[in-house]
Amino acid sequence: METLFVGKNIIYLPVVESTNSYAIDLLKNVNPLEGTVVHAAHQTQGKGQRGSVWNSEPSSNLTVSIILKPSFLALKNQFYLYMIAALACYDTTAELLSTGQFDIKIKWPNDILVNRKKVAGILIENKLSNSSISHSVLGIGINLNQLIFPDAKAGSIKNFAKREINIEQVLKRLCYHTEHYYLLLKKSKLEELKSLYLTHLLGLGKTLNFVYRDSSVPFKVLGIGDTGLLLLQDSGGLIKEMDVKEVTWQL
Ligand code: BTN
Repeated sequence: METLFVGKNIIYLPVVESTNSYAIDLLKNVNPLEGTVVHAAHQTQGKGQRGSVWNSEPSSNLTVSIILKPSFLALKNQFYLYMIAALACYDTTAELLSTGQFDIKIKWPNDILVNRKKVAGILIENKLSNSSISHSVLGIGINLNQLIFPDAKAGSIKNFAKREINIEQVLKRLCYHTEHYYLLLKKSKLEELKSLYLTHLLGLGKTLNFVYRDSSVPFKVLGIGDTGLLLLQDSGGLIKEMDVKEVTWQL
């Protein structure tokens, strides 16, 4: 592993309910080292965003949780953990595909899309104490070798690259990129992280349709606010800060 701490300690599990839940239990019961990775071949109850389930064909994809202890991070900057996870997934994905050939984007807040199909999802679970984050579990699922998806909006690297992907190698690269961005965060390079995130953000500067208050509404994507909310401008020029419950992308 070409890292200082992320992925130095890997717990491999053939089957588990959810690597995130397993990592959270570890944090409750033992004191795992920062950078510990929980990697499963098969999750029976993988968790997705907003209470959804993350289904992943056994042994085909990467399903991992990375334990971090960002006690240096102020609560108001929580969203930067999403940014570093999204950037790490973005770089890992881009290395597997020739970027010129594919349109790889971060769909706010943190899905990775290739040609508008979701290839990776991130679920972060934080433990807060006072005004900081005592630990954080970055749960990452990257679709690698699965070819058929029940959801037409999902896809895998193999769907695009047309070759078998080595899961362990992808895990190594993901650890490498996660550590790189985490160290930038630790050095308070907030502006740098935000501008990198914006470089890859789907729709930046464009007007796209969103589902807003039960109808389809065009908004211009202006960027991300200080706390990670999406900045959208309506047709009247009014700028709104939206959270994930208020708007959904209509792709
Ligand atoms: C999403 O809904 O987009 C987030 C999906 C996150 C899935 C990953 S797979 C590894 C980790 N363990 C879980 O239970 N969920 C995350």
